[in-house]
Amino acid sequence: MKPTLAPFPATRLRRMRQSPALRALSRQNTLTVDDLIWPVFVMDGKDDETPVASMPGVVRRTVNRVAQAAKEAQDLGIPAICIFPYTGMEARTEDCAMAWDPDNLTNQAIRAIKDAAPDIAVMTDIALDPYNINGHDGFVENGEIVNDRTVDALVKMALAQAEAGADILGPSDMMDGRIGAMRAALESDGHQNVTILSYTAKYASAFYGPFRDAVGASSALTGDKKTYQMDPGNSDEALRLVARDLSEGADMVMVKPGMPYLDICRRVKDTFGVPTYAYQVSGEYAMLQAAAQNGWLDGEKVMMESLLAFKRAGCDGVLTYFAPAAAKLMQG
Ligand code: PBG
Repeated sequence: MKPTLAPFPATRLRRMRQSPALRALSRQNTLTVDDLIWPVFVMDGKDDETPVASMPGVVRRTVNRVAQAAKEAQDLGIPAICIFPYTGMEARTEDCAMAWDPDNLTNQAIRAIKDAAPDIAVMTDIALDPYNINGHDGFVENGEIVNDRTVDALVKMALAQAEAGADILGPSDMMDGRIGAMRAALESDGHQNVTILSYTAKYASAFYGPFRDAVGASSALTGDKKTYQMDPGNSDEALRLVARDLSEGADMVMVKPGMPYLDICRRVKDTFGVPTYAYQVSGEYAMLQAAAQNGWLDGEKVMMESLLAFKRAGCDGVLTYFAPAAAKLMQG
């Protein structure tokens, strides 16, 4: 039964807001370090890092530096790190063979992290774009992004990452049928404990712009990704995608981007009650950092408020470039 609200002045909703103690007691949602997944960029080279211009505070790191960063993240209590490779045109081919090479940058980084920081969960990205000559997440035939041939390649990529020691596979490609195909291959290849965090409701968004700079995809990409990523006007379709991915064996689902799509997070959590994550993407990070650098916003406060919003929207965690900064702040 719903309690009825006594009329004013018996009910004064400001009573519970009057002191830090009462506000703490009545706070419904909180952010903790357990909620963070940290996306990092790995590049070729020896013991080096370079800044990403459109993402102030974010760098690309060589494999050994990624391993060091993972150790630091583990020490901060961050439960998971997610690897994205920076690739030049020389790594890109029409057949994308580097994507499932056991020694590609991602797989090297997985092994190095497992060595340096065995307790942090390692998440990957599964999509062909870092290795594709035209920057698309799938194979292109006669101007069309083909589905089924791409899924076969993504399965090879998934198996190579599982073999290297990944804990969480992150298919970000938005092809149909990829979760089921990957799950079946993992089961039959002895990787039954490898989890899948599906980029389930991934929208065709302009907020990915700085990321494409970070991974070297901006100049490679021809056209847009609208035939596979979702239309920003759609909401019900996200629920169909979640139902589909769960039925194919996804362990966790993701909504991406984050802040502009909090309504989707809430619908997904309310409808399915499964582990639900959001990706606070590069453009969201860049906006907040740019405003903070200009002195227009308080950087730390908007960082924490934006992350808390994901919890309020029902998310169990969030992929965020702020992860180490937020973790340090929470450590006090
Ligand atoms: C590509 C991929 C993208 C992101 C993660 N994986 C970009 C895209 O779809 O073009 C975006 C992440 C971000 O913007 O922070 N498979």
